[in-house]
Amino acid sequence: MQKDDLLRLMRDPNLLSSEKQTLLSSIAAQAAAMDMPCYIVGGFVRDLLLGQPVNDLDIVVEGDAIKFGKSLVKKFGGKLTTHDKFHTAIWQLSSSFILHPSSLDLITARKETYSQPGALPAVTSSTIENDLRRRDFTINAMAVRIDGDHFGELLDPLDGQADLEAGLIRALHPRSFMDDPTRIFRAIRYEARYSFNLESSTLNLINPESLFVIQTLSGERIRHELDLIFEEENSSQMILRAGEFGLFKMIHPKLPLFNPDYSDFLEMDSTLDIPTSRATTGYMLWLMDSSEDEILSIGRRLDFTSDLTYSIWAVSQLKKSLPFLVGSKPSVWTFALEKLPPLSIYVVYLVSREDALLDFLSIWRHVKPHTTGNNLKARGLEPGPRFGEILTQLRAAWLDGDVTNKQQEQDLLNQIT
Ligand code: CTP
Repeated sequence: MQKDDLLRLMRDPNLLSSEKQTLLSSIAAQAAAMDMPCYIVGGFVRDLLLGQPVNDLDIVVEGDAIKFGKSLVKKFGGKLTTHDKFHTAIWQLSSSFILHPSSLDLITARKETYSQPGALPAVTSSTIENDLRRRDFTINAMAVRIDGDHFGELLDPLDGQADLEAGLIRALHPRSFMDDPTRIFRAIRYEARYSFNLESSTLNLINPESLFVIQTLSGERIRHELDLIFEEENSSQMILRAGEFGLFKMIHPKLPLFNPDYSDFLEMDSTLDIPTSRATTGYMLWLMDSSEDEILSIGRRLDFTSDLTYSIWAVSQLKKSLPFLVGSKPSVWTFALEKLPPLSIYVVYLVSREDALLDFLSIWRHVKPHTTGNNLKARGLEPGPRFGEILTQLRAAWLDGDVTNKQQEQDLLNQIT
């Protein structure tokens, strides 16, 4: 791509917001003032060349990224978090840059060596070219230089542009997935996100040898990759593909395939007033038919929070007990469902279409009697467990339609106290 064409893309507010353009110019000016070659790399360049809006800005400098970060903070404010071992920093922008995300990564151009498959790499400072060569795929191994007169120069030593045009995901070297098997998850994401294909020798690198290394990854790293999948628009395609490749057995021997019958539900946004998360919904759909022991054990392997494990378990339990609840009165449903996380109930609704679950979420859970504990006290009743029983009985009467107005509630209260 010619420099002028690239500059046109970088000035297109539909691809790069004017706030991001201002930020880039500020960084570029500072890099030029320090005589420090400075580049934007990775996903930014890929998405820009695809004519898609860019998200994160990853900045690489040939020089000391921490020193560069400190000078940016001095000039433009904000806060710097440094990682001395990797010579990287995260610049938390000051509120004068109205941006999302509000932080950006500053990286010292580096070479990486992996002492062991799957381990975190040893890092040494290097040139931008070597920095691009340490990356995952050709389409992610391009950079745009931004300091001074170099603004808008494209570096593409591995011909990522050709692969972008051909729609190919190509690893940079045969050990890429062995070094870092999280790249297999990344390949699956790009494949479905952009409707690209895995280049044939790259596809062959997803083999028993590289899959085996997945076992050595920490639960946190694997879960992060799975979270990213569930957050994507085509997550169902991705999670089914990951199963086809045999990734799950390597993560945990009991991790099942994702049930394709549930895949449409991944893309559904609830209109109900319940807190949802695409990843949580994804794990619930995935594991709801697993046994209690399996859910606990998979939860430990994937470093789930106890809340997440509990809400998946709640889905599995509710799904199993559904046949016993069907045909019950609203009060029975309500008292059975009330302690469960609303999202667990919603997910069971998605797969069962049992209307009572939706009635509970939208109506029944909000039904309360007018009478309160204070009213009971005022009637001269002694506070204690009986209070709860009376209020529950009143609530049940409302739920089941046995009382429909305040007077009827009062009559019932008079009867039972
Ligand atoms: N990268 C890599 N190997 C990894 C993770 C990241 O080589 N396991 C490199 C790639 O060059 C990638 C860059 O680091 O482009 C930034 O990583 P990240 O922010 O995770 O990805 P993006 O390219 O921004 O892609 P996405 O849109 O999926 O976030």
